[in-house]
Amino acid sequence: MNTPEQLNTWHPESYDRNARFVSDLGEPVLAMLRAVAGERILDLGCGDGVLTEKVAAAGASVVGVDASEAMVRAARARGIDARVVNGHALRFEREFDAVFSNAALHWMREPDSVLAGVARALKPGGRFVGEFGGHGCVAAIIVALEAVLARRGINGAAQIPWYFPTVADYRERLISAGFAVDYIALIPRPTELPTGIEGWLDTFAENFLRPLQPADRKKALTEAIALLSPVLCDERGRWTADYIRLRFAAHLSDRGPR
Ligand code: BEZ
Repeated sequence: MNTPEQLNTWHPESYDRNARFVSDLGEPVLAMLRAVAGERILDLGCGDGVLTEKVAAAGASVVGVDASEAMVRAARARGIDARVVNGHALRFEREFDAVFSNAALHWMREPDSVLAGVARALKPGGRFVGEFGGHGCVAAIIVALEAVLARRGINGAAQIPWYFPTVADYRERLISAGFAVDYIALIPRPTELPTGIEGWLDTFAENFLRPLQPADRKKALTEAIALLSPVLCDERGRWTADYIRLRFAAHLSDRGPR
C-alpha cells in the first residue's frame, strides 16, 4: 500500500549528498530530549540513523522506525535496532520513556493516528519531543511548483505531500491525544542548500513531478528554478530554502486522551 509516508522514494546516497543538513540541524531538538543513560527511546522516522546514533551515545537503548526500507537498511548499517514501520500504525505498548522525532512528522499526514500510536508507545508520564516542518515551511518552493503544474492544467495543491501545521493546530492535537504541552513554537530557519535548489528538488519534489510525462520533468524543474531564483538565490549563486520548523516538547498527562 502506498501510505502517506511513502509518497517520496528515499535514496540514502542522494539524501546524504543533498540533505545531510536535515540531521545536522537537529541538534537543538536532540538537546531538548535530554536523553539519560538507561532510558528506552523510540526514534520515529529515524531515516538513515545519524541522529538515532547520537541518542544512543547518551547511553539510551534506542529503537528507530521508518517507513522506508532503504533508510532502515542504512540505519542498521550503523548498528541501530531499526525497523520498517508505518508511523501511522505504531504497535508499541507502554514501552518507551520518550519518543523522539526529527524532520519526519510532516510526511505523516494523519497526525491523530500518529499521536495515538505515540501515546500508546509511552510509559506513563513519558516524553514526546520533536521537530518538523511548520506552517509556511518551504512556501516559496511549493508556490513555484504549483505554478509550473498549473501551466500544465494540473492542480499542484493536490500534490503537496506534507503536513505543516500551525502551533494552535498541533497543540490541540497533542492535548486531545493525552499530552501536556511543555513547549511549542514555530521557528523560521532559512537553510542554505549545499547542492543548491536542484539537489533539494531532486531529493524532495518527486511527488510534484509524478503527474508529468518523464520528457517534461526537466523542463518543469527549469521553470520552477527560474521562478525561485529571484527569491531564494543570492548574488553569489547560493540557494537558501525558506524552512520553518515546528518544535515541541510534551509529556503524557495523567488525564489521558480527550
Ligand atoms: C525536511 O526534511 O525537513 C523537509 C522536507 C521537505 C519539505 C520541508 C522540510
